[in-house]
Amino acid sequence: MTNWKGIILAGGTGSRLFPLTIAVNKHLLPVYDKPMIYYPLCTLMLSGIRDIAIVSTPDAIPAIEQLLGDGKRWGLSFEYLIQDQPRGIADAFRVAEDFIGDANTGLILGDNIIHGSGLQDKLAGCLRRATGASIFGYEVSDPSAFGVVTLDGEGKAVSIVEKPKQSKSRLAVPGLYFFDAEAGRIAKGLKPSARGELEVTDVLGDYMRRNKLHVERFGRGTAWLDGGTPEALYEATQFVKVVEDRSGLKIACPEEIAWRLGYIDLSEFRELARKASTTAYNSYLQALAESES
Ligand code: G1P
Repeated sequence: MTNWKGIILAGGTGSRLFPLTIAVNKHLLPVYDKPMIYYPLCTLMLSGIRDIAIVSTPDAIPAIEQLLGDGKRWGLSFEYLIQDQPRGIADAFRVAEDFIGDANTGLILGDNIIHGSGLQDKLAGCLRRATGASIFGYEVSDPSAFGVVTLDGEGKAVSIVEKPKQSKSRLAVPGLYFFDAEAGRIAKGLKPSARGELEVTDVLGDYMRRNKLHVERFGRGTAWLDGGTPEALYEATQFVKVVEDRSGLKIACPEEIAWRLGYIDLSEFRELARKASTTAYNSYLQALAESES
């Protein structure tokens, strides 16, 4: 069995959200009823990855650690790693080199929110692939703000470009990547881009040229949002509220996922629900725990 480890990249200055993020790390801001970082964390949990490093700035790590702890209560294991300068997504492989060892890596950006039907199966498919890299393509109206992949008629990637000014392809690449153990070596050989960052798209380009890049599409049934700007954060909050209110189910509830996936047992889940206070979030946990009696 391939050994998989997870990385949540929660660094950066969050400058597009100033003044919101002057004193608070972006990934701790609320997306409706939970901190933003719960959403990418839950995506990794759904993929089956339980050994996770959280990479952030020296300033932010104490607060993130206060929120998430060591992960044990959710049947997970967290490590906290410092990225002292925002050197780009691919820099995560340098920061997390010892943590990764010879494992494969699921890397997710701490502001990416992915929700939709069949997501768990798609993620499990990525983890079954022991070699190569797996990413997703998501059609957007304006691809210029993202990494953009172009596919040929057979669905094979033929180009991958970071924030193209113009692009025929409208397939943006969400910030969720699965890499084999080669990624660290590739990242080490990268040069900073024009914006001074080690770009994840350059790592992906290396896989593509070796015919080892697997691209799967997220279709209409999947929502991909981020919390990178005030508008995006507001829209993500609205989205989560609307879907949760309508369905009575929570998006990105780590306690629930931990229990449903068997990372914790029912008595541990009940204990989490019992300890919870009187918010709507906690009433949700208590109702779930009671519904199993
Ligand atoms: C980053 C990546 C980009 C990706 C995007 C997804 O962009 O560089 O390839 O499509 O995240 O959120 P950034 O957030 O650094 O602008």
